[in-house]
Amino acid sequence: MPSLLDQLTAALAGAFAACGLDPALGVVRESDRPELCAFQCNGAFAAAKAARRPPKEVAEAVAAALIDSDTVQNVSVAGPGFINFDASRIAISSALAAQDNARCGVPATGAGTIIVDYGGPNPAKAMHAGHLRTTLIGDALKRIFAFAGYRALGNTHLNDLGLPMGQIISEYAARHPEWPYFDPAFTGPYPAEAPFTYAELEEIYPQAAQACKDDPARRNLARQAAVDLQEGRTGYRALWGHLMRLSKADAKRNFDSLGVSFELWRGEADVHGLIPGIGRDLKGRGLAVESEGALVVPVVEAGDTRPMPPLMYYKSDGAATYGTTDVATLCDRAQTYPDLVRAVYVADRRQALHFEQVFRTARLAGYADGVDLTFVGYGTMNGPDGRPFKTRSGGLPRFDDIVAETLERARARLAEAGLRGDEALARQIMMATLKFADLVNPPAADYVFDPERMTAFEGKTGPYVLYQAVRAGAILEKAGSAGALGPLGVDETPLALTLAAWPEAFAQALAAPSPHPVAAQAYRVAQAFSRFYGACPVLSEADPATRAARLALVARTRAQITLALSLLGIYVPKQM
Ligand code: ARG
Repeated sequence: MPSLLDQLTAALAGAFAACGLDPALGVVRESDRPELCAFQCNGAFAAAKAARRPPKEVAEAVAAALIDSDTVQNVSVAGPGFINFDASRIAISSALAAQDNARCGVPATGAGTIIVDYGGPNPAKAMHAGHLRTTLIGDALKRIFAFAGYRALGNTHLNDLGLPMGQIISEYAARHPEWPYFDPAFTGPYPAEAPFTYAELEEIYPQAAQACKDDPARRNLARQAAVDLQEGRTGYRALWGHLMRLSKADAKRNFDSLGVSFELWRGEADVHGLIPGIGRDLKGRGLAVESEGALVVPVVEAGDTRPMPPLMYYKSDGAATYGTTDVATLCDRAQTYPDLVRAVYVADRRQALHFEQVFRTARLAGYADGVDLTFVGYGTMNGPDGRPFKTRSGGLPRFDDIVAETLERARARLAEAGLRGDEALARQIMMATLKFADLVNPPAADYVFDPERMTAFEGKTGPYVLYQAVRAGAILEKAGSAGALGPLGVDETPLALTLAAWPEAFAQALAAPSPHPVAAQAYRVAQAFSRFYGACPVLSEADPATRAARLALVARTRAQITLALSLLGIYVPKQM
């Protein structure tokens, strides 16, 4: 069954054809001026050009051809040739009737595997606001792809073999030369317990990085330690093993706090063995060239409008880079999953150049043929003053602090609403708050972190949308059973029209790809429901047919908000 927009487009196409015009121009979209009408078609301009007639005349001819349509109504021509109209109530009803409650009319047509690379922490470093954003956006994208029918796999990619690891190892070597990890004669076994806690690691890392900045000798030691680690020195590997176990446990704790999980925890270390072979291949085929002692892959393309430096495969000291490991990772993914159709990377938008270099290298070398490579860059999380959100000491706020602060606010909100002490509910509100506030914006946009506003039960917030779904659920529970959809009255129509827009909202999210059209649709439905409920008695309605028809709309509302929120990783509580 076609969606409402498809039905309208078919009606417009028919009218264009009836006027001897190209039916493909009858494209319908939601109106730019919803106060005038719900839909518009701008095809008269192109049709007029082709027919060498004034657009207004063409638009009027098309409008006249629509007079007897069952699908559109209130047709008018505005300005130089915009065709404005509403959907008929019959069309809205039939589109809605075709939407089942489980999928709301969206088929699962996707095939193949999609890997979504998101949430990637840097071991031994505290996860920060940026990691929170990639975690939320990536998790929602994974859910959206899965709903569309793909096998969607989330991979939290750990940058676990670079210089920072060498910095930490050499720092410990300086502080604790007596540890067995640093004794080349030690034959093992190494201690099973880590000689440090995660909190100590987090503290030592910035000190180690600073020491390397200040002192070239330390820098060299750190570089050497990173190379030795990469080459498999057993003591370093053992120490690094502790560091990785603790780092993964900490990352998992953060992900768990938001109900996020990953199918794959494959990081740089997992593809380390592929690096030399890929390097030889690139060099052998002339795709990589020596440059001042380094090995680089030139990736400039005709038509580039900004400078495009080459991908650095080996630095002059022989070390692999962030680019090297991402090329190897992509190769590995394409080989491991022969049905891979897409790889999506959610990272800070300032990494756009890095990913462009990686994608171009893979394309040049044919390492991921047939795989759609997508970078989703996220913007900055700003404070209520509109400037990048920083802690008092000037750093980025920690992931866990943001979660804790939002949870605290959520508890306070519940106390205000007389629901003090319900900890599970407070967590659900916290998640709805953080996820919705982020995901309602396009990922690349900056957004303002303001827990006071974001947890409010009113306004464009997660808790507001949740509240409307809970309300709808409570009505259904009291009624016992939902009725069948019936004819739409004036007060029911706007809600029905909003519900009918789901297939297009989902299609937009998939095409972008971005969760924000799904979040925006959930909000629109919540608002339309709130207005409907203000205008239409449901449980107290005396006429049984009207009551049943309204209940059916309540059930649709509940189902659609629940579905949309589940794709954002937000679950609707029973009450709030
Ligand atoms: N760890 C990186 C960061 O904190 C993000 C990793 C993104 N994924 C990738 N395959 N490069 O910015």
